Amino acid sequence: MNSNAANYVANLFALTDKRVIITGGAGAIAATMAEALVNAGAKVCLWGRGTHHPVDEAVRDLVNKTGRSEACFGVTVDTGSESNVAQAIKETEAKMGVPNILINAAGGNKGKSPFTELDTEIFKEVLENNLLAGLVIPTKLVAAYWIANKTAGAIINLTSMSSYKPLSGVWAYDAAKSAVLNLTMATAKEFAPYGIRVNAIAPGFFVGNQNRLLLYKDETMAELTDRGKAIIARTPFGRFGKNEELVGATIFLCSDKASGFITGVSIPVDGGFLVDNV
Ligand SMILES: NC(=O)c1ccc[n+]([C@@H]2O[C@H](COP(=O)([O-])OP(=O)(O)OC[C@H]3O[C@@H](n4cnc5c(N)ncnc54)[C@H](O)[C@@H]3O)[C@@H](O)[C@H]2O)c1
Repeated sequence: MNSNAANYVANLFALTDKRVIITGGAGAIAATMAEALVNAGAKVCLWGRGTHHPVDEAVRDLVNKTGRSEACFGVTVDTGSESNVAQAIKETEAKMGVPNILINAAGGNKGKSPFTELDTEIFKEVLENNLLAGLVIPTKLVAAYWIANKTAGAIINLTSMSSYKPLSGVWAYDAAKSAVLNLTMATAKEFAPYGIRVNAIAPGFFVGNQNRLLLYKDETMAELTDRGKAIIARTPFGRFGKNEELVGATIFLCSDKASGFITGVSIPVDGGFLVDNV
């Protein structure tokens, strides 16, 4: 590429003025997005609960991968708690300056059963993690903070194939993720007068902690479950996604120059799963 072309592309996608919060920051997709954003010039603050994978470890991994310790931060926070999130916003601002991007990547799936046997406690937990912790509470507090500060920020939510098509047996995940798509559109309209954009990325099937044992028979990942086989059969590209295939959409939606007039959309990154037909 000649230098004019390289400069043109760099200018369109540079994120050097971006300070990004990523919730679910110790998760698999968050780690991939964080690495890409730091490499593109942003500062990133990982927000994680610290239950399975401590946030400090996730930040250390990020520094090791990017070599930019001045751009990698972390805060331990349960995003299901309004008071925790209010405190986390203050800590984040003290560490890296006023954040101007929120990526809502907290969530996860648990439990699979016939509807008549669903465990209502697990249902509430999954709804809580994917909808309240996964969107409502961080969005409420961060958007209020931006409106008060006159910051024209951007939000990226994590939708799913189940936002569009119900996936069998995962009732709460279906309910939560279809609501995440609905609220992506609804909050895009609500916040547009403040210059705040709200979009989403809908990953197809990427192997993460949350779904590994739905897709593979055991932790060795040697053999697919029937569900894993069915998903691959219905994905025109015939495979699961690789986390790094999410970074182009992430950088695009974070860049005001590239996507400044785009709000209320969800971009499927799914190898064609949503357009599969017979
Ligand atoms: N992996 C996939 O195929 C896929 C597909 C579509 C959507 N998604 C969505 O992408 C997001 C990230 O998924 P992943 O595959 O990286 O999963 P993951 O399990 O690796 O990461 C999710 C993280 O969210 C955290 N979390 C959950 N509730 C929280 C809370 N109350 N407070 C703070 N953190 C909390 C978990 O501790 C975990 O670290 C989720 O919303 C998931 O539903 C994943």
